[in-house]
Amino acid sequence: MQTQEKPKRLRRCQLSVPGSSPKMMAKAAGLGVDFVFLDLEDAVAPSEKRPARAKIVEALNTLDWGRTTRCVRINDLTTEYAYEDIIEVVEGARENLDVIMLPKAMSASDVQFVDKLLSMMEKKLGLRKRIGIDVLVEEVEAMMRVEEIAASTPRLECLIFGMGDYSASQGVSIRDIGGPTGYPGDVWHYQRHKMTIACRANRIDAVDGPYGNFNNPEGYAEECRRAMILGMVGKWAIHPSQVEIAQQRFSPLSAEVEQARNMVKAYDEALAQGLGAVQYEGKMIDIASVRVVRNLLARADLIGM
Ligand code: COA
Ligand code: MG
Repeated sequence: MQTQEKPKRLRRCQLSVPGSSPKMMAKAAGLGVDFVFLDLEDAVAPSEKRPARAKIVEALNTLDWGRTTRCVRINDLTTEYAYEDIIEVVEGARENLDVIMLPKAMSASDVQFVDKLLSMMEKKLGLRKRIGIDVLVEEVEAMMRVEEIAASTPRLECLIFGMGDYSASQGVSIRDIGGPTGYPGDVWHYQRHKMTIACRANRIDAVDGPYGNFNNPEGYAEECRRAMILGMVGKWAIHPSQVEIAQQRFSPLSAEVEQARNMVKAYDEALAQGLGAVQYEGKMIDIASVRVVRNLLARADLIGM
């Protein structure tokens, strides 16, 4: 059994970068994004999937990624590619890789397969750090079993709601991935809530998937806001222009951080006087209010605010 502490990583933005494009990978390394995933799956044509592995290894080993978390999205476990994706990328990049992303997971055992393969490789290669796993929830089967998936292995760090494939899987009519559907209210309210609850119960991150219309920054920012309110920690970007928007939307404002710190202080002072609930700026606060703002303060600490 793995007993290691999970690393705390920023995932305000996870940028998807086609692993077949050395040019885009070089650009991604300089963007200051929290997290990139170099893709072997849908952004790469079948004829390019095998050559892309070596390009990804080269990019991981030679580019300066700064503080960016480096992830590779492999092909799903029904393909002929997935196991060799892991083997070639992990053997090639070793400690220059932080996380493997598994798409189209169907059940906890899919995640456990990747976990076991990584354990074998870490032993064989003598890796000094544990490679994390992020999993895409983008099939109706995965949504039905999201609680088992979220609890599948201690190596799991994050679930991502992938609304593109999910729309196809459920039969939802969409015009563009992650964009407006004409459905009254938020078409993803149930799925985002359900997945985020499973993540929080297992102390892992919940992240929202892509927004294909990268020429609509207002629409993208609104989707970030909705995801953030529900407890998700970040959103995918598919284009460099989305990175700053997500990183800003998923960061608390400095005024909010200051207000939160003041509230905790006021609460502590009340406690010292033997009071559990007090009036603060015209409203009631108690331990529940403090728990809520501690989430915000934990995010601020991780960002270094
Ligand atoms: N990562 C890194 N760089 C990217 C990028 C990405 N995801 N998307 C675009 N760029 C670069 C382009 O190469 C271009 O660089 P340059 O100015 O140095 O020439 C610059 O950003 C501006 O790109 P732009 O001309 O606006 O778009 P494009 O036509 O080159 O690319 C897409 C548009 C949609 C093809 C591209 O954004 C893309 O491939 N996105 C990722 C798709 C993906 O990963 N899908 C699977 C997950 S949903
Ligand atoms: Mg997908």
